[in-house]
Amino acid sequence: MPHKIQKTLVILKPDTIHRGIVGEILDRFEQKGIKIVGTKMLKMTDLLLDKHYAQHKGKHFLPNLKKFMKSLPVILVVLEGLDVVRVVRTMCGPTDGKNAPPGTIRGDYSMSTSATIIHASEDLKAAKKEISIFFKKSEIFGYRRPDIHFFYAEDEL
Ligand code: PPS
Repeated sequence: MPHKIQKTLVILKPDTIHRGIVGEILDRFEQKGIKIVGTKMLKMTDLLLDKHYAQHKGKHFLPNLKKFMKSLPVILVVLEGLDVVRVVRTMCGPTDGKNAPPGTIRGDYSMSTSATIIHASEDLKAAKKEISIFFKKSEIFGYRRPDIHFFYAEDEL
Protein backbone atom coordinates (compact mmCIF):
# COMPACT_ATOMS: atom_id res chain seq x y z
CA MET A 1 0.00 0.00 0.00
CA PRO A 2 1.39 3.48 -0.85
CA HIS A 3 2.48 5.55 2.12
CA LYS A 4 0.39 8.59 2.92
CA ILE A 5 1.15 11.91 4.55
CA GLN A 6 -0.74 11.85 7.83
CA LYS A 7 -1.11 13.92 10.97
CA THR A 8 -1.11 12.60 14.51
CA LEU A 9 -1.53 14.08 17.98
CA VAL A 10 0.96 13.71 20.79
CA ILE A 11 0.45 15.04 24.29
CA LEU A 12 3.52 15.64 26.43
CA LYS A 13 2.18 14.56 29.80
CA PRO A 14 2.67 16.31 33.17
CA ASP A 15 5.71 14.14 34.02
CA THR A 16 7.49 15.46 30.91
CA ILE A 17 6.81 19.09 31.88
CA HIS A 18 7.83 18.39 35.49
CA ARG A 19 11.10 16.73 34.50
CA GLY A 20 12.02 19.47 32.02
CA ILE A 21 12.48 17.10 29.08
CA VAL A 22 10.01 18.62 26.61
CA GLY A 23 12.82 19.65 24.25
CA GLU A 24 14.48 16.23 24.38
CA ILE A 25 11.26 14.47 23.46
CA LEU A 26 10.34 16.86 20.63
CA ASP A 27 13.91 16.67 19.36
CA ARG A 28 13.45 12.96 18.64
CA PHE A 29 10.61 13.67 16.24
CA GLU A 30 12.44 16.53 14.52
CA GLN A 31 15.59 14.41 14.14
CA LYS A 32 13.49 11.63 12.59
CA GLY A 33 12.23 14.00 9.87
CA ILE A 34 8.75 14.41 11.32
CA LYS A 35 7.29 17.93 11.10
CA ILE A 36 5.69 19.89 13.93
CA VAL A 37 2.63 21.56 12.39
CA GLY A 38 0.75 22.70 15.50
CA THR A 39 1.43 23.16 19.19
CA LYS A 40 -0.17 24.55 22.35
CA MET A 41 0.11 24.36 26.12
CA LEU A 42 -3.01 24.05 28.25
CA LYS A 43 -4.40 22.78 31.54
CA MET A 44 -6.64 19.77 30.91
CA THR A 45 -10.26 19.91 32.08
CA ASP A 46 -12.75 17.09 32.75
CA LEU A 47 -14.64 18.12 29.62
CA LEU A 48 -11.58 17.82 27.39
CA LEU A 49 -10.39 14.60 29.02
CA ASP A 50 -13.83 12.94 28.78
CA LYS A 51 -13.84 13.64 25.03
CA HIS A 52 -10.22 12.63 24.54
CA TYR A 53 -10.42 9.41 26.58
CA ALA A 54 -14.02 8.50 25.57
CA GLN A 55 -12.92 4.97 24.55
CA HIS A 56 -11.66 4.35 28.10
CA LYS A 57 -14.98 5.26 29.79
CA GLY A 58 -15.62 2.87 32.68
CA LYS A 59 -12.06 1.48 32.77
CA HIS A 60 -10.53 1.16 36.24
CA PHE A 61 -7.55 3.39 35.47
CA LEU A 62 -9.54 6.36 34.09
CA PRO A 63 -9.98 8.31 37.38
CA ASN A 64 -6.23 8.11 38.09
CA LEU A 65 -5.37 8.94 34.50
CA LYS A 66 -7.60 12.04 34.57
CA LYS A 67 -6.19 13.16 37.91
CA PHE A 68 -2.65 12.81 36.57
CA MET A 69 -3.43 14.62 33.30
CA LYS A 70 -4.88 17.57 35.27
CA SER A 71 -1.95 17.80 37.69
CA LEU A 72 0.07 20.24 35.55
CA PRO A 73 -0.36 21.82 32.11
CA VAL A 74 0.35 19.58 29.13
CA ILE A 75 1.82 20.36 25.73
CA LEU A 76 -0.12 19.24 22.68
CA VAL A 77 1.69 18.78 19.40
CA VAL A 78 0.38 17.88 15.95
CA LEU A 79 2.99 15.98 13.96
CA GLU A 80 3.01 15.37 10.21
CA GLY A 81 4.83 12.86 8.01
CA LEU A 82 4.53 9.68 5.98
CA ASP A 83 2.73 6.99 8.00
CA VAL A 84 3.28 9.22 11.00
CA VAL A 85 0.57 7.66 13.19
CA ARG A 86 2.28 4.27 13.19
CA VAL A 87 5.82 5.66 13.20
CA VAL A 88 5.15 7.83 16.26
CA ARG A 89 3.48 4.98 18.16
CA THR A 90 6.54 2.83 17.44
CA MET A 91 8.86 5.60 18.63
CA CYS A 92 6.85 5.89 21.89
CA GLY A 93 6.95 2.14 22.63
CA PRO A 94 4.39 0.15 24.61
CA THR A 95 2.40 1.87 27.38
CA ASP A 96 4.21 0.27 30.31
CA GLY A 97 7.67 1.83 30.42
CA LYS A 98 8.99 -1.25 32.26
CA ASN A 99 8.29 -3.34 29.14
CA ALA A 100 9.25 -0.73 26.55
CA PRO A 101 12.44 -1.51 24.62
CA PRO A 102 15.45 0.80 24.99
CA GLY A 103 15.54 3.31 22.15
CA THR A 104 11.81 4.01 22.44
CA ILE A 105 10.73 7.11 24.35
CA ARG A 106 9.09 5.12 27.15
CA GLY A 107 11.90 2.60 27.13
CA ASP A 108 14.39 5.39 27.73
CA TYR A 109 12.41 7.62 30.11
CA SER A 110 9.58 5.73 31.88
CA MET A 111 9.10 3.03 34.53
CA SER A 112 5.32 3.40 34.72
CA THR A 113 1.94 2.79 33.06
CA SER A 114 0.78 6.22 34.23
CA ALA A 115 3.80 8.53 34.02
CA THR A 116 4.42 7.48 30.43
CA ILE A 117 5.87 10.79 29.15
CA ILE A 118 3.69 10.97 26.08
CA HIS A 119 0.30 10.11 24.61
CA ALA A 120 0.18 9.30 20.89
CA SER A 121 -2.95 8.67 18.81
CA GLU A 122 -3.63 4.97 18.35
CA ASP A 123 -4.73 5.03 14.69
CA LEU A 124 -5.70 7.47 11.92
CA LYS A 125 -9.33 7.69 13.02
CA ALA A 126 -8.30 8.48 16.60
CA ALA A 127 -5.74 11.01 15.35
CA LYS A 128 -8.37 12.93 13.37
CA LYS A 129 -10.76 12.93 16.32
CA GLU A 130 -8.13 13.92 18.88
CA ILE A 131 -6.69 16.73 16.74
CA SER A 132 -10.20 18.16 16.26
CA ILE A 133 -10.78 18.21 20.04
CA PHE A 134 -7.80 20.45 20.71
CA PHE A 135 -7.03 22.37 17.51
CA LYS A 136 -8.93 24.62 15.13
CA LYS A 137 -8.02 24.22 11.44
CA SER A 138 -6.37 27.68 11.57
CA GLU A 139 -4.01 26.48 14.33
CA ILE A 140 -2.40 23.84 12.11
CA PHE A 141 0.25 25.06 9.68
CA GLY A 142 1.46 23.86 6.29
CA TYR A 143 5.10 24.44 5.34
CA ARG A 144 7.93 22.55 3.68
CA ARG A 145 11.12 21.67 5.53
CA PRO A 146 14.06 22.56 3.25
CA ASP A 147 15.88 19.37 4.36
CA ILE A 148 13.00 17.10 3.30
CA HIS A 149 15.11 15.39 0.59
CA PHE A 150 17.50 14.06 3.23
CA PHE A 151 14.61 12.12 4.78
CA TYR A 152 12.57 10.86 1.83
CA ALA A 153 13.30 9.57 -1.68
CA GLU A 154 11.69 11.41 -4.63
CA ASP A 155 9.16 8.63 -5.20
CA GLU A 156 8.16 8.60 -1.53
CA LEU A 157 6.89 12.18 -1.60
S1 PPS B 1 -3.35 2.69 24.54
O1 PPS B 1 -2.44 3.72 24.02
O2 PPS B 1 -4.73 3.20 24.59
O3 PPS B 1 -3.20 1.40 23.85
O4 PPS B 1 -2.83 2.48 26.02
P1 PPS B 1 -3.49 1.68 27.20
O5 PPS B 1 -2.49 0.70 27.68
O6 PPS B 1 -4.82 1.15 26.80
O7 PPS B 1 -3.66 2.81 28.28
C1 PPS B 1 -4.54 3.87 28.02
C2 PPS B 1 -4.12 5.08 28.78
O8 PPS B 1 -4.31 4.86 30.19
C3 PPS B 1 -3.11 5.18 30.90
N1 PPS B 1 -3.04 4.30 32.07
C4 PPS B 1 -3.03 4.74 33.33
N2 PPS B 1 -3.06 5.98 33.84
C5 PPS B 1 -3.02 6.09 35.20
N3 PPS B 1 -2.98 5.05 36.05
C6 PPS B 1 -2.98 3.79 35.58
N4 PPS B 1 -2.97 2.75 36.41
C7 PPS B 1 -2.99 3.59 34.15
N5 PPS B 1 -3.00 2.49 33.33
C8 PPS B 1 -3.04 2.95 32.07
C9 PPS B 1 -1.98 4.99 29.92
O9 PPS B 1 -0.87 5.78 30.29
C10 PPS B 1 -2.64 5.46 28.63
O10 PPS B 1 -2.59 6.88 28.56
P2 PPS B 1 -2.46 7.62 27.14
O11 PPS B 1 -2.57 9.07 27.46
O12 PPS B 1 -3.58 7.13 26.26
O13 PPS B 1 -1.12 7.24 26.59
